[in-house]
Amino acid sequence: MSSSTVITGITTLVTNDPSVGDRSPLGLIRDAALVIEGDRVVWTGEAGTAPATDNRVDAGGRTVIPGFVDSHSHLVFAGDRTEEFNARMSGRSYTAGGIRTTVAATRAAGDAELEANLVRHLAEALRQGTTTFETKSGYGLTVEDEARALRIAARHTDEVTFLGAHIVSPEYADDPAAYVDLVTGPMLDACAPHARWIDVFCEKGAFDGDQARAILTAGRARGLHPRIHANQLGHGPGVQLAVELDAASADHCTHLTDADVDALASGRTVATLLPGAEFSTRAEWPDARRLLDAGATVALSTDCNPGSSYTSSMPFCIALAVRDMGMTPDEALWSATAGGAAALRRTDVGRLAPGARADLALLDAPSHVHLAYRPGVPLVTGVWRRGTREV
Ligand code: NIG
Ligand code: FE
Repeated sequence: MSSSTVITGITTLVTNDPSVGDRSPLGLIRDAALVIEGDRVVWTGEAGTAPATDNRVDAGGRTVIPGFVDSHSHLVFAGDRTEEFNARMSGRSYTAGGIRTTVAATRAAGDAELEANLVRHLAEALRQGTTTFETKSGYGLTVEDEARALRIAARHTDEVTFLGAHIVSPEYADDPAAYVDLVTGPMLDACAPHARWIDVFCEKGAFDGDQARAILTAGRARGLHPRIHANQLGHGPGVQLAVELDAASADHCTHLTDADVDALASGRTVATLLPGAEFSTRAEWPDARRLLDAGATVALSTDCNPGSSYTSSMPFCIALAVRDMGMTPDEALWSATAGGAAALRRTDVGRLAPGARADLALLDAPSHVHLAYRPGVPLVTGVWRRGTREV
């Protein structure tokens, strides 16, 4: 039997289990303890009632939250786009076209360089409390380059997404229909064994609604589950398509009609908001309040990528969502943990209840509200993943 550890001295424990503590969606327990056995949580409750264990860790009056679930990132890439960011901050606007720069750098990089880059970004995210992450291909855009991106990603996460339909590959610029045939044919054949999800950038300058439907449907026939980049740069068919196909998530959701909001509120598709992208492209913020008031499930993620959102920090995204998107600190934390889990259709992460994975972050703060109240301050001082302390 594996040894058990109690973490005690927790001022505020966020469980995301509404059946305990204050019975709110965050399931807050004050003056709490949590018991880990192996890679699982086996007990949460008030410190005075904790069962006997083999080991004891004193949280020293800090806050414990579920590890962040970053359900949207693009981390298999080489190079960066500093120049493009600089130009944007001087007034140029963001377009999908910049993706080509990263495609060229990624194709030119060796496997070891791509993997080292991925590992470096994952370590950076872990230090900021991220214990589960999804990541995508999409900077290769050839059969071989997409398949190798997914093979590399799959060594580090189960949440791997095939995004051959990020933009039309430069070689097919004059014949987008042929590129869609490639993505739904030989590229899908090579990529499906390495991925769980299929994604499309459904946007002006990338793929239209009919192309997106064809790609997601082909992926689904090969056992991949759909998710979609939708309504980032303008209104479009992406969100409605996501709900129609029961996609796990519609990501960005910046430009929504009332019908889009109603569709998200009535279906199972999670609205994943990516405030790092609006920050880094100086774009209009998504309206989280409108989605929440309508009853939609909202997730928050980084969208970490070298073009539109080069941050791996979930606390930064929480602070932006609270400041600029109408979320309360409680809602933002829920969306960055349980919301991300919902966007990945997972119930084993994003919460700290008996049976859940022991993935948690220790905050040097008396409550989780400090994540938004103290923006930019490195509050994460400990991280456990699968029951093992890694930070
Ligand atoms: O989610 N929108 C499409 N893909 C990324 C941007 C990729 C890039 O600019 O390199 C995004 O924002
Ligand atoms: Fe993205």
